[in-house]
Amino acid sequence: MTTPTASNVIWHEATVSRQDRAALRGHGSAILWFTGLSGSGKSTMANGVNGELHRRGVTGYVLDGDNVRHGLCNDLGFTDADRIENIRRIGEVAKLFLDAGVITLTAFVSPFQADRDRARALAPPGDFLEIYCAADLTTCEQRDPKGLYAKARAGEIKHFTGLDSPYEPPQSPELVIRTGDCSLQEGIDQVLGALEQRQLIPPLPV
Ligand code: ADX
Repeated sequence: MTTPTASNVIWHEATVSRQDRAALRGHGSAILWFTGLSGSGKSTMANGVNGELHRRGVTGYVLDGDNVRHGLCNDLGFTDADRIENIRRIGEVAKLFLDAGVITLTAFVSPFQADRDRARALAPPGDFLEIYCAADLTTCEQRDPKGLYAKARAGEIKHFTGLDSPYEPPQSPELVIRTGDCSLQEGIDQVLGALEQRQLIPPLPV
């Protein structure tokens, strides 16, 4: 545990544990960290998985880059330093959600491996699944769901990931979803399969 910057701040042990919450809910918790280029399908995939979890009675929550940047991170832009701080905050928030017993799905470009590794290190071993939404730049740029690639190409947006800002693909992700080649449902099934395999959620009755 890191030392707080403010002095006289002492960790308070909770009386209800993560295990208590898991027993109450009947499922485990984990951080599903979706990473990939803008337009690679992170949010679509995270929301699709969360919808399926909800139907199965499992509590999930999506922390989405575009949404979080309207609130908690509305003071941050897209310089390397701001992205590092963005991911640091989300790592900490995800850690709290994990402890709260929630399947936590984060959908952030999170372009740097070191930042994703730092977020992973906040969680107990095995509780953090790095999920690479692998779609090449050409595919993402063709999709351009928010018209941002066109704006970046026109010079209206600086430091755009994949164009004038780097993206480091995950070195050893738990899952790779080829969002350019598979259907949304196939991607969702891949993630749910990984959760069932780890016994985080109960399997569907046959
Ligand atoms: S991160 O790099 O700090 O992880 P984050 O996921 O929060 O990024 O935000 C990325 C989203 O912001 C993209 O999906 C896109 O909609 C929007 N965006 C706006 N400007 C940029 C930019 N320069 N680079 C990447 N995404 C941008």
